[in-house]
Amino acid sequence: MASAEESKRWVRMMTAQTPTNIAVIKYWGKRDETLILPVNDSISVTLDPDHLCTTTTVAVSPSFEEDRMWLNGKEISLSGGRFQSCLREIRRRAGDVEDREKGLRIGKSDWEKLHLHIASFNNFPTAAGLASSAAGFACLVFALAKLMNAKEDQSQLSAIARQGSGSACRSLFGGFVKWIMGNDKDGSDSLAVQLAHDKHWDDLVIIIAVVSSRQKETSSTSGMRESVETSLLLQHRVKEVVPKRIVQMEEAIKNHDFASFAQLTCADSNQFHAVCLDTCPPIFYMNDTSHRIINCVEKWNRLEGTPQVAYTFDAGPNAVLISRDRKAAVQLLQRLLFYFPPNSDTDLNSYVIGDKSILKDAGLETTRDLEALPPPPEVKDAQKYKGDVSYFICTRPGRGPVMLSDESRALLDPETGFPK
Ligand code: DP6
Repeated sequence: MASAEESKRWVRMMTAQTPTNIAVIKYWGKRDETLILPVNDSISVTLDPDHLCTTTTVAVSPSFEEDRMWLNGKEISLSGGRFQSCLREIRRRAGDVEDREKGLRIGKSDWEKLHLHIASFNNFPTAAGLASSAAGFACLVFALAKLMNAKEDQSQLSAIARQGSGSACRSLFGGFVKWIMGNDKDGSDSLAVQLAHDKHWDDLVIIIAVVSSRQKETSSTSGMRESVETSLLLQHRVKEVVPKRIVQMEEAIKNHDFASFAQLTCADSNQFHAVCLDTCPPIFYMNDTSHRIINCVEKWNRLEGTPQVAYTFDAGPNAVLISRDRKAAVQLLQRLLFYFPPNSDTDLNSYVIGDKSILKDAGLETTRDLEALPPPPEVKDAQKYKGDVSYFICTRPGRGPVMLSDESRALLDPETGFPK
């Protein structure tokens, strides 16, 4: 059998697919910037990778001269500290690999000398601001662990992905996930655990409104740094509010208690944005469209007497709306399309993407059907805001990372190890 150094010709590769996630109890603030250790626990829902995911192929070959990475077809630099931390930590845990088919053996110590090629692709626009770094770093770490035969469990891998981007640690699991902040100085106990699997609460339907925005938002990384330095509300949130909410949210998820789930989710999103306003200088992530969506949901929930939908917003204006069931999702979509119809040059089929069966249940097949939508009963003189939403994505809670064994889905050429 050829040793790693003997033949320069082989390429060994692995392809993985990893979901993105939306926090329902937010992570906002670090106690250690390099290790990415948070100031509070957080909880998220993993989104169905059929609609939002990252696919990553990682390859190793003695013919590679340096570590290189391509994102959505364009080469990007790996020199940043976060990439370097992930690569270093995963190399440190690499094991022996024997590939009988290719007739090669890579010893544990060879990984230090061998270089990697990485190609990554998001099935949604990176510019939409939908936590692409979370899925990206989770996928990188998951795929490399398989390539290098690192025998770590998912939680230990999550602690490596965390060093790429905090929220990435929660994308190592499907369903409902908690990132435990931990206590250790070295960060070894700051990791993600699964609270419930993706089929645990199958009724939930998620609609994301990708809101049109011209302004460049403050990055989460610098935004949370400024909040830690200046916001008194953040101190109160971390000490008094989040610890109780985490316990209540875990209970709500366990018991499928939508009323509590919705109340906690909305309150935590609103408090996170209040912390942003309490930061000096203040940070504005939501815009008028975001506020109109909140109003729409609040008024409807009030009319019904019990929550139908929960809303949550990350570091940008997009709304993530979690409906209690399909019926509520249909009614939500009807309301959203009433208030935010597409521009005249956009057809409904590209305006509502993902699980289109909800459109069908809503009796909406063409843009013309939208004109017949009645105004929601909870408002008088409802106004319309055409063009203020770029598009909607219909999705649901989803599974965690998977390996893709079908080589046709790999992003690197199996002969050369360069992008296809
Ligand atoms: C508002 O994980 O993007 O989405 O750790 O600096 O990379 P870094 O930040 P990031 O922050 C996410 C913040 C959030 C809330 C959340 O996902 O919990």
